[in-house]
Amino acid sequence: MKVSELQVKIQKAITVPDINGPLFANVGDEYKKHFENKDIYFNWLTASIKVWKPKKIVELGAAAGSSTLALYLKKLKDTKLISIDYATEWGFLPAKMKKDKNVTLIMENSLNEEMIKKHKKLLMGIDYLFVDTVHNFDQLTAEIKLYEPFLADTCLVVLDDIMVGDMYEYWKIIDYPKLEIPQYHSSGFGFFIYKKGK
Ligand SMILES: C[S@@+](CC[C@H](N)C(=O)[O-])C[C@H]1O[C@@H](n2cnc3c(N)ncnc32)[C@H](O)[C@@H]1O
Repeated sequence: MKVSELQVKIQKAITVPDINGPLFANVGDEYKKHFENKDIYFNWLTASIKVWKPKKIVELGAAAGSSTLALYLKKLKDTKLISIDYATEWGFLPAKMKKDKNVTLIMENSLNEEMIKKHKKLLMGIDYLFVDTVHNFDQLTAEIKLYEPFLADTCLVVLDDIMVGDMYEYWKIIDYPKLEIPQYHSSGFGFFIYKKGK
């Protein structure tokens, strides 16, 4: 599928979640307000999961967990969601998510090779990767290099804040079908479709 066609499908699938429902009980008020906006990247993430239907989602950089929750809301029941952040307690996440056997929260440095080795079975077959840690060229380059061996033959890779610092230098050299969609985040947002062996 072309990236532009995928974006049309995702855009059509965007809805505003029930921010007064139990899954949002721990989300901070300021963030709840963000979720009320159809054009925020959180709601794009949810819609992209609905459309792409990944089996294994990996998130690098969760902070309080708004994006983690967004990735969870429409995932298929058996889809695994693995989120890695070295400094968070994912405070926004509901107990349901923390207890879900298909959700794994790893409080480690995304670049820790020992951690990656330890979780290699869990990580194998990523077909949706969302990267949102430190926003610079070197970090992103290192993360893609470390996680690429775990990507499925086809993987949707979503990058936040591509306009920050020298992140755009990375965006420019991505040699896969890619689409910038800055309307969802003023600091830049985009995705590409990775194909193994391309
Ligand atoms: C911009 S915030 C993530 C925001 C979140 N994705 C959202 O949309 O709400 C960046 C997060 O990346 C984490 N982080 C930065 N460098 C990291 C690294 N090397 N390994 C793991 N986490 C990292 C920080 O602790 C922080 O919580």
